[in-house]
Amino acid sequence: MRSMNHAPAPRLAAPTPENIQAAAAALRAGALVAFATETVYGLGANALDAGAVARIFEVKGRPATNPLIVHVADEAAARQATGSWPREAELLARAFWPGPLTLVLPRAATIPDIITAGLDSVGVRVPSHAIALQLLRDAGIPIAAPSANRSEALSPTRAEHVLQSLGAWLDSGRDMILDGGACAVGIESSVLDLTQSPPVLLRPGAIARAQIEAVIGSIRVLGASSAEIDTPRASPGMMARHYAPRARALRFESRRELEAALAHRAQAKYLPRLGIVAVGEMAALQDSQALVEVRALGTQPEKYASRLYDILHELDEAGCEEIWVEMPPQREEWRAVRDRLARATVEG
Ligand code: TXA
Ligand code: MG
Repeated sequence: MRSMNHAPAPRLAAPTPENIQAAAAALRAGALVAFATETVYGLGANALDAGAVARIFEVKGRPATNPLIVHVADEAAARQATGSWPREAELLARAFWPGPLTLVLPRAATIPDIITAGLDSVGVRVPSHAIALQLLRDAGIPIAAPSANRSEALSPTRAEHVLQSLGAWLDSGRDMILDGGACAVGIESSVLDLTQSPPVLLRPGAIARAQIEAVIGSIRVLGASSAEIDTPRASPGMMARHYAPRARALRFESRRELEAALAHRAQAKYLPRLGIVAVGEMAALQDSQALVEVRALGTQPEKYASRLYDILHELDEAGCEEIWVEMPPQREEWRAVRDRLARATVEG
């Protein structure tokens, strides 16, 4: 695999109509374009061009066994990328598109092997971000786009995160990064496999199980047979370690456990700079804990999710050597957030 190139990184491009058109032209010419979606930033390539898609894997350092999501402008384009369009797909598309739900269906013959990692199925979604939709319409092609970060690292929720993670691998001569500001949802789409019966939720995300079941009836959720909400496995290529900050990240199931660890830490000779990601507010820490940055993300799952990656990036940037996470409750409404936290951390 090729390493970093020596070309300068692309500058962030404002999402003007001209720049979006230039990005669409770049995609059609086989280049890569990073763009905002409502979930996280994607690193896009023409999904019908296997050579362009190969560069996505190279730039991300992504294993070839991990398939990519194909982004399309509307349901008609999704039908073209897939080999069949069952009633469930129609109902779900009507209910949740444009939006953060990826549907896995048999693939169309036009979708190259490299996208599906050799599987017979393909993941498709219509993103709801206005810039992403405009880019899809201007380009007039399906756009393959994984999250725009190096493999296993935190997904980007701002254009600056993309530049930092991938700048050294992108080429200002042809690739682009469209700056669409901060992503509103903040975690990746729900991935639902409609090739199985009942359908299987491979990756929990912003569209919750109950919302899906209200439309198509009962589904299966990987890891949900026990009380445990975050057993990692799931989609092909979905690794247990994933979505991780650079700092050593530890999780604690309760505030009490986290506070006990803090009390213990207070006695240590060397205090690494520590970031704490809490749910509710924390009482002021003592002087000896001066090297601690605390961020309380709140008790509402959606708001929490919208800030999570941004805060983890920020704590990394602040030079935290460790990040301690107070896990939100083991309840259905926290499933997607707990899934990402479980992958980003080890037990504290
Ligand atoms: O919100 C999102 O989904 C973002 C934005 C950019 O759209 N994209 C994203 O892509 O998170 P990525 O590549 O980081 O994650 C794609 C997930 C992986 O877990 C992959 O295994 C699964 O989708 N996936 C894609 N195609 C699949 C298929 N044919 N069968 C099963 N899983 C599939
Ligand atoms: Mg990803």
